Amino acid sequence: MSLLTVNDLKVHYPIRGGFFRKVVDHVRAVDGISFELQPGETYGLVGESGCGKTTSGRALIGLNKATSGEMLFEGKDLAKMGKAERRGYTKDIQMIFQDPYSSLNGRKNVLSIIAEPLRNFERLSPKEELLRVQELVARVGLNPESIYKYPHQFSGGQRQRIGIARALALNPKLIIADEPVSALDVSVQAQVLNFMQEIQKEFDLTYLFISHDLGIIQHMCDRIGIMYRGRFVEEGTASEIYNNPQHVYTKRLIAAIPEMNPEKRFEKMHLRQSINEEYQTEYNNYFDKDGRMFDLKKISDSHSVAMQ
Ligand SMILES: Nc1ncnc2c1ncn2[C@@H]1O[C@H](COP(=O)(O)OP(=O)(O)O)[C@@H](O)[C@H]1O
Ligand SMILES: [Mg+2]
Repeated sequence: MSLLTVNDLKVHYPIRGGFFRKVVDHVRAVDGISFELQPGETYGLVGESGCGKTTSGRALIGLNKATSGEMLFEGKDLAKMGKAERRGYTKDIQMIFQDPYSSLNGRKNVLSIIAEPLRNFERLSPKEELLRVQELVARVGLNPESIYKYPHQFSGGQRQRIGIARALALNPKLIIADEPVSALDVSVQAQVLNFMQEIQKEFDLTYLFISHDLGIIQHMCDRIGIMYRGRFVEEGTASEIYNNPQHVYTKRLIAAIPEMNPEKRFEKMHLRQSINEEYQTEYNNYFDKDGRMFDLKKISDSHSVAMQ
């Protein structure tokens, strides 16, 4: 059974206006997405800023209310649960946030930050709690004395490790990582990403990995969903997406990955030009007369594209 099945999830934010603050319209931040996560895999959600990635992640963790659709976690619909029932799943689904600066409470030391989920869910004696936090801190590669320090005393990469330790504290099954390295220096990004891969096996984790950076998604993910304006334009294995992209939007994103090899830059520039031309001339294949994307259509067992 899949760990998570998302069916036609929509999250619309009301836009209010006028004297009575009536709802005048909606932002369709997430407008009908469907995907499944298999246990142990890393699934990537990718797309440019504002396409609805964060809103999707927050709906899954319960920080945003879903407007409609299903989110089946081990077969049970998170969207239909009341607060109390939902709380039971907080242990299983944890989130790592983009910004390790603002997601950690600066007035608490590392011990309290990592112990917080334990205090909420497990009844440990102070000694057991200390031991558990020490274990976690060691596992994410920080010094034992770190636990008495405060977030501002760490570098960005170290802070993200504290965030990871906190997410691991309750032994979750699913971790939603929303742009986990976007706020970090390029030099530490790879360290944190490799570390996330290391602990994935050890802790039996499934990742929903959110990023606007296709290069990072390629490095991390088994399967990928490409989002555009709240919907999926394409879904497939990493190799299908990179080696055989079908939707012009996916092709554009891939062509936009910076080329490190100077000898290939010219080639890449040509590729970009030809994809831009395709975008102009073939527009009607990809978008209907109202500019809306088509529904996903399977072109193989694992590969789907939003084409006519
Ligand atoms: N709280 C909110 N109220 C209204 N609109 C929002 C809110 N949060 C996000 N949005 C809008 O929803 C869309 C998707 O945002 P978001 O999920 O943050 O995208 P991403 O993470 O892909 O950059 C954007 O148009 C954004 O402006
Ligand atoms: Mg975001």
